[in-house]
Amino acid sequence: MDIGPVASLPCLVLAGLAFVVVLALALGVGLGLGLKHHSSRTYVTTNSSFILDPSFQISNATTTRYYEWTVSEASGAPDGYERTMLVVNNQFPGPLIEVNSGDQVVINVFNSLPNGTTIHWHGQWQNGTNYMDGTSGVTQCPIPPGMNYTYRFTIDPNQYGTYWWHAHASTQYTDGIYGPLVIHSPAEPVYGSYDREALVIMSDWYHDMSSGLLTQYLSNAGIDDQNSPIYDNPGAEPPPDSGLINGQMIGSSFDFKPNLRYRLRLINMATLTEFVFSVDNHMLEVVESDGTSVVGAAVHRAPINVAQRYSVILTTNQTLGSYNVRAEMQDICYKLDNPNLDTMVLGTLTYGATAVATPSTQNWNDAYPGDCIDLNATQLVPVIESPPPNSTMTVSVSMSFQQTFASGGQATLGYMNNTSWEADSADPTLMQMYKAGAQTSFSQSQLVVVNDDIQVIDLIMDNYDDSSHPFHLHGHTFWLLGIGDGSFVPGQSEVYLNYNNPPRRDTLTVPGYGWIAIRFIGDNPGLWAFHCHIGWHMAAGLLMQFASLPSRIQQFSIPDYLGQQCSSQSGGTILNRGISIGR
Ligand code: C2O
Repeated sequence: MDIGPVASLPCLVLAGLAFVVVLALALGVGLGLGLKHHSSRTYVTTNSSFILDPSFQISNATTTRYYEWTVSEASGAPDGYERTMLVVNNQFPGPLIEVNSGDQVVINVFNSLPNGTTIHWHGQWQNGTNYMDGTSGVTQCPIPPGMNYTYRFTIDPNQYGTYWWHAHASTQYTDGIYGPLVIHSPAEPVYGSYDREALVIMSDWYHDMSSGLLTQYLSNAGIDDQNSPIYDNPGAEPPPDSGLINGQMIGSSFDFKPNLRYRLRLINMATLTEFVFSVDNHMLEVVESDGTSVVGAAVHRAPINVAQRYSVILTTNQTLGSYNVRAEMQDICYKLDNPNLDTMVLGTLTYGATAVATPSTQNWNDAYPGDCIDLNATQLVPVIESPPPNSTMTVSVSMSFQQTFASGGQATLGYMNNTSWEADSADPTLMQMYKAGAQTSFSQSQLVVVNDDIQVIDLIMDNYDDSSHPFHLHGHTFWLLGIGDGSFVPGQSEVYLNYNNPPRRDTLTVPGYGWIAIRFIGDNPGLWAFHCHIGWHMAAGLLMQFASLPSRIQQFSIPDYLGQQCSSQSGGTILNRGISIGR
C-alpha cells in the first residue's frame, strides 16, 4: 500500500516529532504526566494553560512549518465522564498551529482510526490549493484507516488572525478532532497593541459518540420511545451533555499578570451551541471577527456562534484577585432541552493574587442577547476599508428541513433549494470537475453553482426554518451586506443592504425565518462548500457548493495520493451521511 510522500522523508518525520515535543513543552503539557493509562488505551492529555508563547517570532520572513499528526481513538473525561474520544496526538483540544502570514505549512495526518477522516483548515483561502481544503466528498475522499494525507499549503500573505482546524467528515469533529490555528502578521492592525495573548476555545460535549447520535437524529421516526427523546421530536438535534472551555468543564484557569492588555482569541468549536462569553468586571474590546480586524466595540458580553472567532482585548486593571470567566451556552437556541445540562461553563481568571477556585465575582447584570444571532454590523466595522465591488452574478437559495420517506423510513433532512447534500466519499466533486471540466454534471445530491469566469457573486439565502443557523463559506472572506427577517424580496429588500465598509467574515448567523445577503469574489479556483456549521445539520444535508474557474481546476497539480485514496474506498461509489468508510 502506497502511503504517499512520507515514507521517503524520515527527516520530515523527525522534524515533526521534534516539533510536537517542543510544542507540547511550550504549552505546558505534561505528556503522560498526571493522567493514568486506562486499560490498554491511551488517555487524553488536557492542556492546563492556553497562553501563547510570547517568544514566538512575529515576522514578515516566511518559513515552512512541519507537523506530524496521528488521529486516533483515546479515552478521556473532559467533563468528568469517561468516554471514547477521537483526538489528534492524544491531545484535547488538538495541537496549536501557530504561523506567520505567508508561511508554508506541511501537516502529515496519519489516520489511526477505524474509519475514514479528513482535516479542514477553517477560514483558509487556499488559493490554488483547493485540494488541501480537507472537505470529505468535496475536495477529497476520507483518508482510509492506516493511511496518511499530507496537507501542504501556503498561508495567504494577506491573511492573518484567528482560525481553527477540524475533522470534516460527517460529524466526526464533535468527538474531539479540533484545535486552534493562529496566523500572526506585523501587518495586522492590532499588532503591537497588546502585551500577551491567550486562546479561549469553547465547545459543547456529548457523552455518546456522534455517529450513534447522528443515526438517531437522521432516522428519527417520530415514534414514542421513552429511552430516546430524540426519536420523539422529529428534527430535534441531540442536545449536548456539557460545555467546555479549553477542553475542560471546570478548572480551566487563566493566570495573567496585572496591568497588561491581553488579546483573548475566542473560538467556538462547538457542534450545536452558541456561547455568550464574558469575564466578570472586565470590559471586552472586540478587535477581530473571523480574521478581519475591526474597530473595537466595547462589550460586556460577546455572543459567538458555532465556528466563529473573535479577538477581544481585556485589560487586567481591576482589583487583584480571581474573576469568573463565563461561557454561557444558549440552550434557548436548541429544539430539545437536556435537563441535566449546566449551561453556565465557568473558568477562572487570576492576576496579582493566589488563584481562587470559585471566585465570588458577579455576572454582568445587563440583559442577555437571547435571540441566537450575532454581534450587529455596527460592532464589526473593519479597520481596513475594502469596498465591495459591484456584483456581476446573483445566486438565490433557500434552506429548510423537510420530512422525507425516501429510503423506506421517515427522516428529517436539510435542503438547500431542493437538494439534500450527501457526501460522495468515493468521487468528490473536485475530482469530478478536475476530470471533466466545465462539462461536469453532478448527481442530484449535489447543488453546485459554477462560475466559468471570475464573477462578483451575491449570495442571498432565505431561511425557512424557525431556528437560526451559522453558515460558513469555505475559501473566501465575504462582505456581509445585510441580514433581515422574513424573506428577501428582490426589488424591495435591497434598501436594507449596506455597501459602506460592511463587515467581512467567513461565518455568519442566518436568523430563524430570516435572510442574509453576502458578496464574494469567485476568483478562487476550486469547489467551495457553503454550509450550516451545526454538525447535525451539515450531515442532514445543509451544504451547497460553489465551483469557480473549471479551466483552472483542470490545471491543478493534485497529488496522486488523493486519487489513490479515492479508489481505495471499497465498493465503488459510496454515498454516505454517516462515516464508515474503509473498514
Ligand atoms: Cu469549519 Cu466546512 O467548515
